[in-house]
Amino acid sequence: MGTADIRQATGGDLPAMVRSLGQEEYFSDRLALQDSGHGLLLVAWQEGVTDGGAGDVAVGDVYVWLAAAEEAELRAHLPHVALLTHLEVVAGRRNEGIGTELLRAAEHRLWDLGHKQVALGVGLDNRDAQRLYARLGYTEWPHGQVATTEVVYHPGGERELRPEICRIMVRQLDPERGGPWR
Ligand SMILES: CC(C)(COP(=O)(O)OP(=O)(O)OC[C@H]1O[C@@H](n2cnc3c(N)ncnc32)[C@H](O)[C@@H]1OP(=O)(O)O)[C@@H](O)C(=O)NCCC(=O)NCCS
Repeated sequence: MGTADIRQATGGDLPAMVRSLGQEEYFSDRLALQDSGHGLLLVAWQEGVTDGGAGDVAVGDVYVWLAAAEEAELRAHLPHVALLTHLEVVAGRRNEGIGTELLRAAEHRLWDLGHKQVALGVGLDNRDAQRLYARLGYTEWPHGQVATTEVVYHPGGERELRPEICRIMVRQLDPERGGPWR
């Protein structure tokens, strides 16, 4: 659909990101990790009206985890495979193709970095997101579900660790297998 401009975030983007996406602690943390080479924070922007007048509004994001996975099963079965994490689109802009654009932008970045596959974890109950990933060429791996820990950042800096059982879905990026091109 081509509705959003997707860019790798920089420190200067933080105030605008927090304005629409909240989660200041999370994004500060990810920007610091990005600076250390741990991953890439991609943000989708659309033109809109903000408190400061007309400008870009952050409408979604995905963090591409390039470092070794925290989960032993992922490190064992998919060593060195990047993970797409924390994909989200603001509530008022869902179902407009922005999530798809974020996924495709992340896949293109990974392809350019030499990756041949990509993976992600999705909560067992999140059928809507599972349907989206399946439509975009992701298939569930054959090694079973994985217990992950979601880190929830509360205002004030407190971190809550939330266990979540996930399906692991994988997509091949080889041109012969359809991707990462649309
Ligand atoms: C999942 C999500 C990022 C998709 O972004 P989007 O811009 O709405 O996606 P697109 O418009 O490209 O594609 C629409 C598809 O997303 C999925 N979707 C729509 N709303 C959703 C929601 N509230 N939660 C999860 N998935 C949703 C559906 O599969 C939908 O297609 P369909 O209903 O026609 O089959 C977005 O809905 C979201 O932020 N959801 C809440 C957070 C979340 O579940 N993130 C995924 C974690 S693994």
